[in-house]
Amino acid sequence: MIAFFCSFDFMNNLGPIGVFDSGYGGLTVLKELKKHLPNHDFIYFGDNARAPYGTRSFDIVYEYTLEAVQELFQRGCPLVILACNTASAKALRSIQQNDLEKIDPTKRVLGVIRPSTELIGFKSTTKTIGILATEGTVKSESYLIEIQKYANDIRVFQQACPMWVPLIENGEHLSKAGKKFIRKDVKKLMKNSEDIDTILLACTHYPVVASYIESIVPKQVKVISQGEIVAKSLVDYLARHPEMEQRLLKTGKVDYFTSGDPASFDQKAQELVNLVVQSKKLKIH
Ligand code: DGL
Repeated sequence: MIAFFCSFDFMNNLGPIGVFDSGYGGLTVLKELKKHLPNHDFIYFGDNARAPYGTRSFDIVYEYTLEAVQELFQRGCPLVILACNTASAKALRSIQQNDLEKIDPTKRVLGVIRPSTELIGFKSTTKTIGILATEGTVKSESYLIEIQKYANDIRVFQQACPMWVPLIENGEHLSKAGKKFIRKDVKKLMKNSEDIDTILLACTHYPVVASYIESIVPKQVKVISQGEIVAKSLVDYLARHPEMEQRLLKTGKVDYFTSGDPASFDQKAQELVNLVVQSKKLKIH
């Protein structure tokens, strides 16, 4: 509760931007958000106790994501970013279309899929791209549907990587066995077409293994992480929505919460994305 009072300016009704992920992955997005919006306040929430989301059902991901969004709203966030593709694919639309109206129609929830799909078409010269994502994101076909809207001349191949999030959450992604899983999935994706010249890491955990992926694909293949894309898109959104920008707290403070173990969270945040943090426990269930 202490963090709640620190992060929310009651007098002026200002609040931080909420950033949500199933676990550590959203930290790769938060890092870029901090770079592009250094004066804004953020609250990060990682639902580590219930990660991974990628193999969970549609209904469960929706339920968990809605709980997290409500928690962040209660902590004063007028705007929440779902820094998780699985949550964006399975819960964002329902929350935007059905829940916001009942909870608070002045608040906003944004995801990571649309900013990525708007841009990805411009990155490929061969007009052939590969998507690496969780099973949930791949099955939702959100990327296939969204990319068609912005670039219908692009060929898209998807590969689900169900082991990657558990490997990263457990810090085993660069072990011999971890690398074997990653190599296997990347190879499967690349087998679809020799023309693939761009790979989108459509899971916010995957930038942690971006350099390993780069080392095993042909040199001309670009490996794209979403952090910077999402950050630039948010800067643009806030410029177009001054009514939201005016409601955001700007003291440059970031609070971190995890439903898992705070000590492990702090250690992993440093190991995985080189962020020094002091997280607090948030009991969500
Ligand atoms: N970072 C989440 C994503 O972008 C991982 C989901 C999971 O927990 O499996 O999809």
